[in-house]
Amino acid sequence: MKKPFFTTANGVLYAEDCLKVLRQLRTGVFDCVFADPPFNIGKDYKNGYNDNVSQTDYTEWCAEWIRECCRVVREGGAFFLYATPELAVQFAPILSEQLVFRHWIAVSMKGTFPRGNKLYPAHYALLYYTNGTPKTFNRLRLPIETCRHCGKEIRDYGGHRKKMNPEGVNLTDIWTDTSPNRHKKFKVRPGVNELKLLIPERAILISTEPEDLVLDPFGGGGSTYQAAEKHGRRWVGMELHDSKHIRNRLRETHSLSAGLTPQFDYEALFGNEDQQDAVLRGLKGKSLSVGTISHFSWTSGDSDPNGSEGIE
Ligand SMILES: C[S@@+](CC[C@H](N)C(=O)[O-])C[C@H]1O[C@@H](n2cnc3c(N)ncnc32)[C@H](O)[C@@H]1O
Repeated sequence: MKKPFFTTANGVLYAEDCLKVLRQLRTGVFDCVFADPPFNIGKDYKNGYNDNVSQTDYTEWCAEWIRECCRVVREGGAFFLYATPELAVQFAPILSEQLVFRHWIAVSMKGTFPRGNKLYPAHYALLYYTNGTPKTFNRLRLPIETCRHCGKEIRDYGGHRKKMNPEGVNLTDIWTDTSPNRHKKFKVRPGVNELKLLIPERAILISTEPEDLVLDPFGGGGSTYQAAEKHGRRWVGMELHDSKHIRNRLRETHSLSAGLTPQFDYEALFGNEDQQDAVLRGLKGKSLSVGTISHFSWTSGDSDPNGSEGIE
């Protein structure tokens, strides 16, 4: 059995290819999936990941992990997928095969530049889909906006200010407070931007309750896992290239939880029966129906360049 690279009281991180792990997960077990994949734009992740493969390879790979992510969303659960608008329009039909569209959230992005004869790109898409009717939809509110210089409220709300909810205004599908932290003291991975915490945080708060299960297949700097820890959600993560930053981040931000044995049965999430069938079909040359197998096994050499520190 492959050891997790790192565990907390609430979560488990695999230093592994996400597809390998995804294929082994049972169907319909996660309350929320949040994915911020590489965009194949030649970005230097400074961890050895090649973000510049052929378009065909990239498209096929995306279709595969997106379908696996959709599969593991439980009934009423949510899938949030962060992407450039160009990718989002390609991903949407794949999501729609299994899930129901809820929102295209425009996440404001600064510091870009227009290419060729195009408009200045100022947002990313956060696609929000659910497996049928959402089982949880928490309405989030934002504080009423004030001027950062004088502290006064910016809008007068057409004279209805007094009737407004004192807890603030409803979150809309345009998020403008989301630019990544540029200052290096806020960065988990040197020279690489991770999402601002509030992006996965909002996704989690909208779609889950405490102790619900969150999956993020592309760990990066670990913002989703930190958000899950912060709000008492359980999580499962994967990062193929360098998981140490995530471990260090969680040790720093959630020292009481970091390194502990998960307080939920994460092993029970594994044992995808279709996968077992496929393996047996390969071995026996015919389709067989099997009972559940207690845990997954890994087909590769099980080497772990990061040196796992999780529980056995
Ligand atoms: C855009 S980053 C995620 C950033 C993250 N959301 C954050 O805020 O820090 C994508 C990450 O996916 C990782 N990655 C690429 N291919 C992977 C794969 N097949 N399995 C797991 N992780 C992968 C890359 O190494 C990179 O760290």
